[in-house]
Amino acid sequence: MERFSGKSIYLTGGASGIGRAVTGAFIKEGGTVTILDRSAAGLKELKQQFGEAVQCIEGDVTIYEDHVRSVQTAVETYGKIDIFVANAGVFDGFAKFENVTPEAMSAAYDLLFNINVKGYFYGSKASLAELRKSSGNMIFTVSGAGFYPDGGGVWYTASKHAQIGLMRQLAFELAPAIRVNAVAPGGTLTALHVVPPLQPFVTIADKEMKAKSIKKRNPLQIAMSSEDHIGAYLLLASDQARAITGEVISSDGGLAIRGLG
Ligand SMILES: NC(=O)c1ccc[n+]([C@@H]2O[C@H](COP(=O)([O-])OP(=O)(O)OC[C@H]3O[C@@H](n4cnc5c(N)ncnc54)[C@H](O)[C@@H]3O)[C@@H](O)[C@H]2O)c1
Repeated sequence: MERFSGKSIYLTGGASGIGRAVTGAFIKEGGTVTILDRSAAGLKELKQQFGEAVQCIEGDVTIYEDHVRSVQTAVETYGKIDIFVANAGVFDGFAKFENVTPEAMSAAYDLLFNINVKGYFYGSKASLAELRKSSGNMIFTVSGAGFYPDGGGVWYTASKHAQIGLMRQLAFELAPAIRVNAVAPGGTLTALHVVPPLQPFVTIADKEMKAKSIKKRNPLQIAMSSEDHIGAYLLLASDQARAITGEVISSDGGLAIRGLG
């Protein structure tokens, strides 16, 4: 089935993890994807894997001009943008607020909010005119941390709540032309980075420890992989979701029914 044949997607953070899996899924269903990411090595691999179906822009989501450059490339290469996926993000490693020095707190705030929040503002703004032309839609990668405590520390949790606020306000302002929704993955085995100012305050778990703790915390007991979230993105991006805006699909193994046990 080629649901995205002729569709052009602009996605941030596609060189790794969830963004990479979603990129592959769009391409498998006939779409073309323009990626903004700061990982030159990851982008090189993507290009080798997907060839003409992908355009790779090395840059930083905190720089508005890098989004503009990506949008221009998408339009020059594929003629338009139908879907914007805001996804590039970083983590705080569950750093405890009380333990972190004021200097590290401030530096972590700037870095994490610039990437996780300003990066989503910028991508939305830069792609907006093209999405208006195509009557397209936006999807934000949020997180269980956008609803519940302990999906990270204060920086990550607050940034994920902010992304949901941005998504809901944009869904309101941009209706009826453009739908805006989100996917909230639960703990997923990826290379998600802890911002450097917080590294001295966190214990970096190995993959096995991470998998165990993710499994323990969700009712379905899944240590999720990036591929587990693909279906939610494809649904929201497709015309099958034409009546859905301002919504979050939780793809988290059932955190909302965790109960008190
Ligand atoms: N891994 C999880 O447990 C989990 C759970 C819920 C939500 N998420 C969210 O999923 C999204 C993707 O994360 P992931 O887990 O796939 O991590 P990842 O590290 O595998 O992928 C993130 C990508 O974003 C890119 N990136 C980071 N900062 C950037 C910047 N300033 N400019 C350009 N590119 C940048 C990285 O190079 C990388 O390719 C994030 O928004 C994250 O918060 C992850």
